[in-house]
Amino acid sequence: MDTDQMHKKPKVILITGVSRGCGRAMAEEFIRLGHVVAGCSRSEMEIARLQKQFAAPNDFAVVDVSLDAPVAAWAGRVLKSPGPPDLLVNNAGRINRNAPLWEVGAQEFAEVVGANLSGPANVIRHFVPGMVKRRSGVIVNFSSGWGRSTSAEVAPYCATKWAIEGLTQALAQELPPGMAAVPLNPGIINTDMLRSCFGGSAAGYPTPEEWAKVAVPFLLNLGAADNGRPVTVPVRGAQD
Ligand SMILES: NC(=O)c1ccc[n+]([C@@H]2O[C@H](COP(=O)([O-])OP(=O)(O)OC[C@H]3O[C@@H](n4cnc5c(N)ncnc54)[C@H](OP(=O)(O)O)[C@@H]3O)[C@@H](O)[C@H]2O)c1
Repeated sequence: MDTDQMHKKPKVILITGVSRGCGRAMAEEFIRLGHVVAGCSRSEMEIARLQKQFAAPNDFAVVDVSLDAPVAAWAGRVLKSPGPPDLLVNNAGRINRNAPLWEVGAQEFAEVVGANLSGPANVIRHFVPGMVKRRSGVIVNFSSGWGRSTSAEVAPYCATKWAIEGLTQALAQELPPGMAAVPLNPGIINTDMLRSCFGGSAAGYPTPEEWAKVAVPFLLNLGAADNGRPVTVPVRGAQD
């Protein structure tokens, strides 16, 4: 553990999409700083690894966030222990294979919408009532530079990230005082997702572990004053 973060009260952090990339790096960094992480993804093998690596009260589960019923069951368990999240991070996401919109099949389109838009809505539906009851907590919905700009060949992804910006700002207007919901542009990070859309040039961007050293303290500092404010992790290459 390091600096002033280790002297603060441990928080319960909920993160979706912890099997790799940004989600995995955030989970490891939050735990290193002394916080408790409840995380999910679909990969059974990676979830088993995390369960072995990090003991209770950390909690890792195989959950597909695009499906309402498994999210409901997961929330029922996590809200009892380790308890309602202080920080809920809707990180899990998918991108379409680079292609013009008219070449993206209906199933692939639905999968991108399922992970990036229905997923956060399912998680909010089942976790946020427990946070509202306590009238505290911050909800961070992962957007993208492509939630505030567009590029060719990633239209389904852009559509979901522009939607998450609107969904989050409307949610911010519904929360009681003391809580916050923010759409977050994480910057550009060298993950599987970035390699899928950027190819070889992804190598020029920070690793998830480098990024998490900046992103995690940034997330821990978000509070009620940020409600409804589109935010951006202050890393190289990130633009508001
Ligand atoms: N990398 C970047 O430069 C960048 C830039 C802007 C925004 N973002 C956003 O940042 C977030 C993380 O991206 P990343 O680059 O870390 O992606 P990544 O390396 O592809 O990781 C995506 C994670 O989401 C999980 N996931 C996908 N679909 C899921 C589902 N239906 N249910 C549960 N988990 C699911 C994956 O796990 P399983 O496959 O095991 O389920 C994986 O852990 C995403 O929201 C992305 O849009 C990334």
